[in-house]
Amino acid sequence: MEQLERIGISLDQTLLSAFDQLATKQGYQNRSEAIRDMMRRQISTEKLADPNAQAVAVVCLVFNHHSAKLVQKLTALGHSHLLQTICSMHVHLDRCDCMEVIVLKGRCGQIKKIAERLLSHKGVKLGNINMIAAEQSH
Ligand code: NI
Repeated sequence: MEQLERIGISLDQTLLSAFDQLATKQGYQNRSEAIRDMMRRQISTEKLADPNAQAVAVVCLVFNHHSAKLVQKLTALGHSHLLQTICSMHVHLDRCDCMEVIVLKGRCGQIKKIAERLLSHKGVKLGNINMIAAEQSH
């Protein structure tokens, strides 16, 4: 474990109060953990501005399983991006709809391109991308 540094910061009461309320609402037990997570999130977001940054992403797609062409295309796309595709999971949501959860790893720019191609496929009803920088600063 890395050595801990103690720091002191100055801020006005209104800002501190708003921060404490947010941290409590989000379930944090103490300020330090809330501040650490906020710093990590900001650093991760900043890293993802660089298309060459290493990242991992979860792409979630909801589609009608009757569109067989889409299922074929998803499989083909996965095989053509083997280096980026870590795994995928299929969930049968109801009689018609399925959800595919795909985990991608690689350069941020490439992941975005692949994910956007998946989301814009005909037959995909709903979807989103969640991406974080792969190399985290602690
Ligand atoms: Ni299904």
